[in-house]
Amino acid sequence: MMAPYEREGLAIEPLHDALGARVRGLDLAQALTPAVFNAVHQAWMDHLVLVFPEQRVSDAQHIAFARMFGDLERHHQDIIKSSREPEIFRVSNVDDDGKLMAPDHPTVSQVRLAQRWHTDSSYRTVPSMGSILHGLEITEEGGETCFTNMYAVYDALPDRLRDKVGDRKLRHDFEYLTTLAPIKPLTDEERAAMPPVWQPMRRRHPVTGRASLYISPIYNDAIEGLEDDEAVAFVGELTEFAARPEFVYRHRWEADDIVMWDNRCTMHRVTPYDLDKRRVMHRTTIVGDGPVIAA
Ligand code: SIN
Repeated sequence: MMAPYEREGLAIEPLHDALGARVRGLDLAQALTPAVFNAVHQAWMDHLVLVFPEQRVSDAQHIAFARMFGDLERHHQDIIKSSREPEIFRVSNVDDDGKLMAPDHPTVSQVRLAQRWHTDSSYRTVPSMGSILHGLEITEEGGETCFTNMYAVYDALPDRLRDKVGDRKLRHDFEYLTTLAPIKPLTDEERAAMPPVWQPMRRRHPVTGRASLYISPIYNDAIEGLEDDEAVAFVGELTEFAARPEFVYRHRWEADDIVMWDNRCTMHRVTPYDLDKRRVMHRTTIVGDGPVIAA
């Protein structure tokens, strides 16, 4: 693994050969100078996932940090969006009033789908650039967030899988979630807000120029040129390959960690945890810089 190093007064410690670095020497409650922002951005491009420990920030300070990277998404479902800060996406089994929800509550079922590999808002015409997650109430066991490096996955694909990916497009449909778990059916308004989109399976990162595999299995139900059951099976095969330990950093949370990831070249999932224990994570989701570029 790469050795720890310093940049603009930040101590950057790589966490895994494939991706992930811990960054110390920063207080995200304060505005970043342009030089420090550039150093953070460069570290993000280099390591794909950054962990900032001990950040006791309010939602407003979290939002101010996230806005340095771009505009923020507002989730199209009220059940997920914070009623206080619409740019906060509540990844939680605790409701907006602080009450633990039953494990079979439809919102908990939806939040649990994050236990499957995905990349955020791939179902939008312009998918998210990156996400920033603040661990407010973390679980002692389970609830670890795993990230996989999709550049490395694409580079390592066996020829058989790479040839089948080719120049194909894959469908990303938010409503596909309703077939995977007993979640609240979409309203007509929510369905109209997020019609299915077709995205290239091999994408080029707009900043690094690198090619990666672009799949988001919880939203993928069809591939150009394949029958739907073959498409879903193929996405499953690619997902299994992407989940190999050599590509995956697994983050064990401490309270007030802030973790940010690049949705353009990673997938993530959370490991199962006891749903009778509170888990409260607040996420901001940075709007993408443009439609997906095919590689
Ligand atoms: C997410 O999928 O955005 C959240 C992952 C987590 O809950 O750790």
